[in-house]
Amino acid sequence: MAILITGGAGYIGSHTCLELLNAGHEIVVIDNFSNSNPESLERVCKLTGKDFKTYFVDLLDKEMLEKVFLENEIEAVIHFAGLKAVGESVELPLLYYQNNITGTLNLLEVMKHFNVKKLVFSSSATVYGLTERFPISEDFPVGALNPYGRTKLMIEEILKDLYISDQEWGISILRYFNPIGAHKSGMIGEDPFGVPNNLMPYITQVAVGKLTQLNVFGNHYPTVDGTGVRDYIHVVDLAKGHLMALKKTCSTGKLESYNLGTGNGYSVLEVVSAFERASKRKIPFKIVEARKGDVAICFADPLKAKKELGWVAEKGIDEMCEDAWRWQSLNPNGYDVNKDLVSPYLKSSEDFFVGNK
Ligand code: NAD
Ligand code: UD1
Repeated sequence: MAILITGGAGYIGSHTCLELLNAGHEIVVIDNFSNSNPESLERVCKLTGKDFKTYFVDLLDKEMLEKVFLENEIEAVIHFAGLKAVGESVELPLLYYQNNITGTLNLLEVMKHFNVKKLVFSSSATVYGLTERFPISEDFPVGALNPYGRTKLMIEEILKDLYISDQEWGISILRYFNPIGAHKSGMIGEDPFGVPNNLMPYITQVAVGKLTQLNVFGNHYPTVDGTGVRDYIHVVDLAKGHLMALKKTCSTGKLESYNLGTGNGYSVLEVVSAFERASKRKIPFKIVEARKGDVAICFADPLKAKKELGWVAEKGIDEMCEDAWRWQSLNPNGYDVNKDLVSPYLKSSEDFFVGNK
């Protein structure tokens, strides 16, 4: 029996595939590579020494999706696939609703047809919208501020209705805070197409010389130094949270939402300092106007995940920055080049294993 990973080639998906394989799970990946590179999965294969099937399938193609379920014994699904750029979602809302909502509906229909009723879904802290109290717990009011956020909220609602209609479903909705960092090996990491929208990939690209300086979006927020505060979480901790959620979902079969965050908030300038310490490079920055739609502060109350899933984030901001820097410096152009890269964490290239795909 295998776990199907949608969007498995992406940033969080590839790290989760690695953790699942290392924990002994069998996996099947589908991805349309609209925002990722198959090289990430090659590297997961090399790092784990384990092979798995990858399908070049779009969630909008229901027939192909059915074929995947016909060819494999799927026991549960971790659903990462989706578009995630806030600005783009404002410009292209129909693309976002089509891809994220229709894609998810297709997946749920096929799962239902094949009687696969265990699901872990990638939601986001963005569903909390404007919040005035912190830390944010799961029972806070929701309300998204842009089409991307609304796709997440709508999918959460769809999942709740589905569960009400049939309690054989087991569903974990994971609300991620701000994932950053990379696997220790420096072999897999975040590889955004074009100029990054998010803070950490922007900083790492300044450090590696691809961008000249960081624009800090506003310094008049009611925070320690006036810059925005977020709950940054190491992507490997986040990936491990999926394994715990999967275990819970498969054993209890309820619908629950969980915050995956550390519970600590760091300002933009605190992140810049931590990154400078980790990389020993200076990050030139300029304070510019606040970004429209940004909240001042956002950090999680992660207690529910601790109590119910037995999960806590273990890695601190320094390790997040060190790992982000290792990934970027070993792969200045992301997955496009360095095909012969050997991680300093592997003893030699003989440690690599490429299975038969
Ligand atoms: P990502 O873009 O790296 O990964 C998403 C993957 O889904 C990509 O490989 C992409 O090619 C694939 N995909 C997109 N649409 C598809 C479709 N129709 N059919 C098949 N594959 C498709 O993003 P990520 O950072 O790994 O995020 C994974 C999930 O977590 C997304 O749903 C995202 O919205 C959510 N999330 C991410 C963050 C973050 O900061 N990275 C925060 C909160 C929530
Ligand atoms: C963004 C998305 C959010 C998504 C989250 C995780 C927006 C408006 N929100 O949130 O929906 O769930 O990513 O993917 O895009 N910053 C700078 N300069 C930069 C980039 C960011 O100063 O070049 C600041 C931001 O103002 C913010 C902090 O850094 O205070 C973090 O920004 P970012 O990484 O984009 O994440 P979020 O704003 O939390």
